[in-house]
Amino acid sequence: MQRVVLASSNAHKLREIGEILAPSGIELVPQTALGIAAADETGRSLIDNALLKARHAAAHARLPAIADDSGIEVDALDGRPGVYSARYAGARASDEQNLKKLEQELALVPHDRRGARYVCAMVYVRYATDPSPIVCEGHWVGRIAHERRGNNGFGYDPVFFVPELGLTAAELDPGVKNAMSHRGQALRALLVALLGVQTGIGAVS
Ligand code: IMP
Repeated sequence: MQRVVLASSNAHKLREIGEILAPSGIELVPQTALGIAAADETGRSLIDNALLKARHAAAHARLPAIADDSGIEVDALDGRPGVYSARYAGARASDEQNLKKLEQELALVPHDRRGARYVCAMVYVRYATDPSPIVCEGHWVGRIAHERRGNNGFGYDPVFFVPELGLTAAELDPGVKNAMSHRGQALRALLVALLGVQTGIGAVS
């Protein structure tokens, strides 16, 4: 079984990523279990930040690393909060504070202008200085609901409405969310790329 450090301390993400990777034979070690502090997220894009986090974790753990950076892009806000989703209401803002700020900003935005999407960048590095990281993205398109619904998930999930299901992300069972979500898509793409690299399948060298 291959040990890989996961560069996240978000318990919700750990659970989601762990569930998807469970059948893959990869043993995920959260960076917090190794006493590794979170990297500074100074990048200007989700990919920048995911790479920063992965290299930081790999350097300290001396193991291959997986990192994700994700956020929500709202059409009526020209794509904000995007890469700043976790810090939308301030540097140490809680999920509740960020959600409230989004609700306030969109209070006067009509139904047909409330399009949004979750985006996730997922990165794998073999070691800190890896010159060929694997980078995969996932997108999940939805709308920002006028009212919160559901108790599952985290972050903006209570207002992230999934039109094809008629439910918010917070009303979905974890397995259904993983099957549809930006993070699930990015992680499955990463697994395919990773297994291809490890087995030589699809590798061009
Ligand atoms: P990160 O931990 O720096 O990647 O920040 C991601 C932030 O984006 C989270 O704190 C949430 O605010 C938001 N976010 C990303 N993915 C999700 C999701 O699946 N549900 C709800 N909010 C999410």
